[in-house]
Amino acid sequence: MSDQPLVIIDALKIDVRLTRAKRLPIVDTATFDVKRGEIIGLIGESGSGKTMLCRSLVGTLHRRGAYIASGKLVFDGIDLVAAKGAQWSDIRGKQIGYVPQSALAGPNPVMLIGAQLEEAILQDKNFPKSKVKERAIELLNIVQIRRPEVVMHQYQHELSGGMKQRVMIACAIAQQPQLIVADEPTTGLDVTVQAEIMRLLLSIRAEFNTSIILVSHDLPLVNQICDDIVVMHAGTTVEKIPSKDITHAKHPYTRALYDSRIDLVEPKGKLTTINGQPPTVGSWPLGCRFSERCDFVRDECRVPQTMPIISLGPDHFTSCIRYTELDK
Ligand SMILES: Nc1ncnc2c1ncn2[C@@H]1O[C@H](COP(=O)(O)OP(=O)(O)OP(=O)(O)O)[C@@H](O)[C@H]1O
Ligand SMILES: [Mg+2]
Repeated sequence: MSDQPLVIIDALKIDVRLTRAKRLPIVDTATFDVKRGEIIGLIGESGSGKTMLCRSLVGTLHRRGAYIASGKLVFDGIDLVAAKGAQWSDIRGKQIGYVPQSALAGPNPVMLIGAQLEEAILQDKNFPKSKVKERAIELLNIVQIRRPEVVMHQYQHELSGGMKQRVMIACAIAQQPQLIVADEPTTGLDVTVQAEIMRLLLSIRAEFNTSIILVSHDLPLVNQICDDIVVMHAGTTVEKIPSKDITHAKHPYTRALYDSRIDLVEPKGKLTTINGQPPTVGSWPLGCRFSERCDFVRDECRVPQTMPIISLGPDHFTSCIRYTELDK
């Protein structure tokens, strides 16, 4: 089993129930694997389906009125599509740690940080109560919070944004999960704190061989720390590419995201933007969903079809049928 990817996502489709009879697809044909100890960057514009994909991994789609309509979602050999309530309580928080997108809003405002950590630790019913405090302090040390004994007795409003995020990460790793899903853990933080949080995630991976799915809008940032990058556009995964190859992306959307980065170190002069707006959920184009925004579009891209997954290497695929022509 251990040479199998830790996570297998294959043609995953997530729908929202609008009415008794009406369904709205919000993620469709999402496909990628996560290996053990691998950090995957999941990027894409707002509304592309990143958070819904994350929620499918922790079994909280129903809280948004959504569900897995079809496809495969496997974690450590467990079929998550078929997972039921009791099974989820063994997986969520224990085997898969989650840092939700709103985490900067902070941990629970009315609970002491120590109490929140203790709650996360005691998800393991067999954990000895006498050791909880010691473990909470150990967790705060792992996430490099100074003076953990003091922080244990503080509320979130007493912490900086970076410290709040560290506490959220401490809660997410309390059970030593095999996978951490971190949904935009650095959005809203200043650049130096972003870098510190990224380094923290790297150190957790190095110490515990934890796999990480790191969601972000910031391609250059994730490119620095992730092994592979998965690019989502309009509810689907359009490319997976090793970070080191990002300048040779084989999907026009990945290229557009990369070209529209803001480079503070070497300003390029004119800022490039991506054509148009992402298509709205419910009115995706029938062929390639990027076709209306793409400089390389041809008639065949607009033919109604499910775009293929074209393998270009062990960790590289594109769904662009014209990928061979991008450099001509
Ligand atoms: N309950 C719902 N009903 C209708 N549409 C929904 C519902 N939940 C989510 N959506 C839509 O699904 C799409 C994907 O949402 P999601 O939150 O996954 O996007 P995202 O990629 O995480 O965006 P962001 O970068 O802004 O966080 C969005 O267009 C959102 O409006
Ligand atoms: Mg989101």
